Amino acid sequence: MKGRAMKILPIENLRGEIKVPGDKSISHRSVIFSSLASSTVEIENFLHGADCLSTVDCMKKFGVDVQIDGEKVFVTGNGLRGLREPENILDAGNSGTTLRLLLGLAAAQNFNTTFTGDDSLRQRPMGRVIKPLAEMGASIVGRNGNKNLPITVIGGKNLCGITYEMPVASAQVKSAIILAALYAENPTTIIEPAPSRDHTEKMLSAFGVQIEKVGNAIKIFPAKSLTAPEKIIVPNDISSAAYWIVLAAVTKNSAVTIKNVGVNQTRTGILDVLKNMGAAIELENLHESGGELSADIKVTSSKLRSVEIGGAIIPRLIDEVPALAVAAAFAEGTTIIHDVGELRVKESDRLNAIVNEFNKISRGSFEATATDLIVHGGREKIFAECKTYADHRIAMALSIFGAAANGVEIDDADCVKISYPNFFQFVMRNT
Ligand code: S3P
Repeated sequence: MKGRAMKILPIENLRGEIKVPGDKSISHRSVIFSSLASSTVEIENFLHGADCLSTVDCMKKFGVDVQIDGEKVFVTGNGLRGLREPENILDAGNSGTTLRLLLGLAAAQNFNTTFTGDDSLRQRPMGRVIKPLAEMGASIVGRNGNKNLPITVIGGKNLCGITYEMPVASAQVKSAIILAALYAENPTTIIEPAPSRDHTEKMLSAFGVQIEKVGNAIKIFPAKSLTAPEKIIVPNDISSAAYWIVLAAVTKNSAVTIKNVGVNQTRTGILDVLKNMGAAIELENLHESGGELSADIKVTSSKLRSVEIGGAIIPRLIDEVPALAVAAAFAEGTTIIHDVGELRVKESDRLNAIVNEFNKISRGSFEATATDLIVHGGREKIFAECKTYADHRIAMALSIFGAAANGVEIDDADCVKISYPNFFQFVMRNT
């Protein structure tokens, strides 16, 4: 269902303290991994976005006790081998993380599970996760030659450990393999082309799983049980903070502090690139919880210059490319972002969305090849009516683009509920 249209007016500046919601990746993992332990885990600062609620819904249908109590979530699992056969098809909604991680988990169960998802998720590539799981001995059948949802996992298979060289850096695929590897007969080794976010490795280590890391290789040992901490505190999401970081950097007289943001090294590519572009960004109050680093991020307005990036930094900022494209549109010179072909298979084809919609605000600024994004900075910006393609990150990037330029009207503001339900508290104007 299509959401409300929303008009965003230009802002003069952005000042003050901002709290963004809990980290989406860590919220998913906190519920899934706690479901595999056998004590009650309290999850604080859980992201109550639609994607993470899809994960909660699926885990409940696997027979896990998940209670939402205001901001908090309490999960009481039945142990590593305590999941039950769902009565019905599981719906992962818009969430690639829910689906891909749970495919890995379902592959190791002794019952069958069928998954589906929304219009976007049903188009997204699932062969990349089915292939390694099948090598481990899983039996998985999907539409369109095992590429797309709906997908059925046939349970009751004994899995064996494999050595798997991943063709694309993907934390979702890596995590699916890691979950299946917990149940395998022998250890599994995963080799990544470049490091992707490592929240799964960090959190499962805190749950007592033996995971060894040597360079880009990760070795996972089968587990007998998981031992959960009493409490997991989810840091705030750097991917949500990215919109305010960029907006503060590109609007005059701005100074914001975004509190307690997760700054895990595998997620901070956006900070590194913006600093290279000349943005004034400082980290304060660095601290650690459950193996994850957090900090307050302080940003003040700056004059930005273009950059050329690609390679290993890309997985460290993949979800922030739409926000980065906005920063590049205000920078002096032409920014080139190589190796972002993965953006074509996210919640929408994000390269296509950027070229079609961002150019309505700044004509001729954005170009894309199959794998690269080119942004010509400093060109004229006008008010425009733009489409979000029902993609939360396109909606939020368009909103800050309009706020920093001459305003924008987006056709579907509600899609931000996927990762940032109260995003428009800051820039909202109903049409
Ligand atoms: C995620 C991994 C990334 C990212 C997504 C969340 C995760 O996807 O884009 O938003 O939580 O593991 P890929 O694994 O497809 O790169």
